[in-house]
Amino acid sequence: MQFSHQKIDRNALCWCGSGKKYKNCHQQFDEKIMDYALQGHIVPDRSLIKNEREIQGIRDSARINMACLDAVAEKIHAGMTTQEIDDIVYQTTIDMGGIPAPLNYEGFPKSVCTSINEEVCHGIPEETIFLKDGDIINVDCSTIYNGFYSDSSRMFLIGDVSEEKKKLVQVTKECVEIGIEEVRPWRFLGDMGEAVHNHALKNGYSVVRDIGGHGCGIEFHEEPFVSYVSKAGEEMLMVPGMVFTIEPMVNMGTDDIYEDADNGWTIYTADGKPSAQWEVQILVTETGHEVLCW
Ligand code: MF3
Ligand code: CO
Repeated sequence: MQFSHQKIDRNALCWCGSGKKYKNCHQQFDEKIMDYALQGHIVPDRSLIKNEREIQGIRDSARINMACLDAVAEKIHAGMTTQEIDDIVYQTTIDMGGIPAPLNYEGFPKSVCTSINEEVCHGIPEETIFLKDGDIINVDCSTIYNGFYSDSSRMFLIGDVSEEKKKLVQVTKECVEIGIEEVRPWRFLGDMGEAVHNHALKNGYSVVRDIGGHGCGIEFHEEPFVSYVSKAGEEMLMVPGMVFTIEPMVNMGTDDIYEDADNGWTIYTADGKPSAQWEVQILVTETGHEVLCW
C-alpha cells in the first residue's frame, strides 16, 4: 500500500474525524509514522487507523459474532450436520440485528465456514456433512453490524478426540495467545508472526503460508495481509487504532494446501493430515492491545 501523508495545517481539523485540531490530535503520531517510513519500514495508511466511533462499532459487531460462537459451543455434538451449525449462526446473527458477513461474499453460499480435520479453512456447511466422534472442527464466524465487521473462529472437539489431534488444537490456541502478547504499538507485525511460527515449529507443526490474517472492521478484508511465517522487525508497523486478525492455520504435516476444484472454496492440506485454526480480531492501543473478538 502506498503511504499517503497529505500535509495538514496544524490548526485544521484532524483527518481521523475526532473533531479536534490536528496539532492536538494526530500530528505527532503522523510525524512518528513518517520517521519509520523514511527508515524503510512498511507503515499503515491513514485509512487503516480506526477512531473511537469506529472501534465501538466493531466492538458491537463483535458482541454478535461471539454470541454466535457461544451458541455453537452450547449445541455442537456428534451426529449433527454442518448445516445445523450454519442455521445457529444465521439465526443468532439475525436475531441480534446483524448480517452474516460470509453470506454471498464473493459467492460464498452460507453464513459461516465449517472446516473439519484436514480441511484448512473455508469449508461450506452442508446438510450431508455429519460431525463424527473424533472430529476436530473450526467454526469461522464473521458479522456485519451497522456496517462494521467482526471476525473470529474457534475449534471444537467432537466426542472422543485422539491425543494427537487434541494437541494440535491446543498448540494452535497457544500460538494465537503468544501472538497476542506481541501486539503493541511501534512494533512490527513480523514480531507477532515470528512468535506464532516459532511456537508451531517447536511442536513439530507447520503454518500455512499462502492464507493469513487481514485488517478488518470497515471492510471484511482490509490491508495488511497478516502472515505467520514472517520475521521479527519486518512487515507493517503496528500503531494505535489498527485492527486486524490473528488466525494462523497450523498443520500437523506439510504446509502445502490445495483448493477444492468443485466448490472453489474449501482448502485442504496436501497430505491429508489435520489442520487447526483459532482466530481473534485485535486492536492496537496506546499501551498494547485489546482483543475485540474471539
Ligand atoms: N472468515 C474468513 C476469514 O477469516 C473469511 C471467510 S470468506 C468466506 O478471513 F467467504 F469464506 F466466508
Ligand atoms: Co479472518
